Amino acid sequence: MSWVEQLRATEAICRRAPSAHNTQPWRPEYHTDEITIDVDPARRLPDSDPTGRDLALGIGAFVETCLIVSAELGLTVTVAPGPRLVPAAHRYATPFTIADIEARRVARGPYAPGYVDDAVLADLEPGVAHVPTRDLVADLVVADRWMFGTPAVAVELRDWLRLSPRHPRYHLDGLTDRALGLSRIEARVLSAALRAYPVTRRLGLPTLLAASGRGLLRYDGSVLVLRAADGEDQFSAGRRLLRTWLALARHGLAVHPLSQLIDCPATAGRLAERVAGLPLAVFRVGRPLVAPVRSARRGEQPSTRPD
Ligand SMILES: Cc1cc2nc3c(=O)[nH]c(=O)nc-3n(C[C@H](O)[C@H](O)[C@H](O)COP(=O)(O)O)c2cc1C
Repeated sequence: MSWVEQLRATEAICRRAPSAHNTQPWRPEYHTDEITIDVDPARRLPDSDPTGRDLALGIGAFVETCLIVSAELGLTVTVAPGPRLVPAAHRYATPFTIADIEARRVARGPYAPGYVDDAVLADLEPGVAHVPTRDLVADLVVADRWMFGTPAVAVELRDWLRLSPRHPRYHLDGLTDRALGLSRIEARVLSAALRAYPVTRRLGLPTLLAASGRGLLRYDGSVLVLRAADGEDQFSAGRRLLRTWLALARHGLAVHPLSQLIDCPATAGRLAERVAGLPLAVFRVGRPLVAPVRSARRGEQPSTRPD
């Protein structure tokens, strides 16, 4: 088998890469001696991610995942502009393995109180700032209200929610009730409220949903912010983001991104001031009190997926 065929045979592992709303926007095209990573236009988020920041981060995370897989397979592969995966002289140097990729998952439930240790922070690549959770309580309410109150953004989110196992795409992509940590009743209420969105918006749904998320950061914990680095494009930042999440996972720490803090113009400015730089990703970090579920992926058999 050629290196391209070997990597193609492990595409399901590469697809464990994270992406905003679990859109899985990557489209690998396999050629004789290279793999191009295209973007599936139907999987962009034009309203929630108009600048393409999360898209570039997601493509970067996918390519980093492919490189980690290729290294474990013993293949000599590197990344070239495009992005493309091309032959290289050496294996990709990485401390991470396929087991790390399989073990990583976003956890949106409660975390044990406690800040991330300095020793763990020192183990991360540079460009990550620490903010105590409580410092962001008020801004998260503002950002959530903005997210649920901006019709195009809320409707786009609704389109990627799979709030019932009966949803035809429940095992394929998007955000399930279980991934969001919702009870059956909560999922039903949210689903009904979002179905009637223009009306429920006027009735105060954004304020209600924002208030329900108020407790999320009301504990002594850590939020980490990935800052843009000088001369680094967002695609490379996505590779760094994936490595940061895998490094945290090795310490038993899960992440919960809160991108609305960057998307909402009012809170984005304050966050940039707080971390003295341009935030590209922001996520709560900690030890989950409830084991997170394995998220859906296209091309996976639901019955064979361990939780
Ligand atoms: C760039 C980026 C932005 C994300 N933003 C959010 C977010 O704002 N809120 C959230 O709950 N999850 C966010 N996520 C996490 C994705 O929803 C998650 O990766 C996806 O559902 C797959 O789940 P998994 O990472 O557990 O495999 C983000 C992921 C990426 C890569």
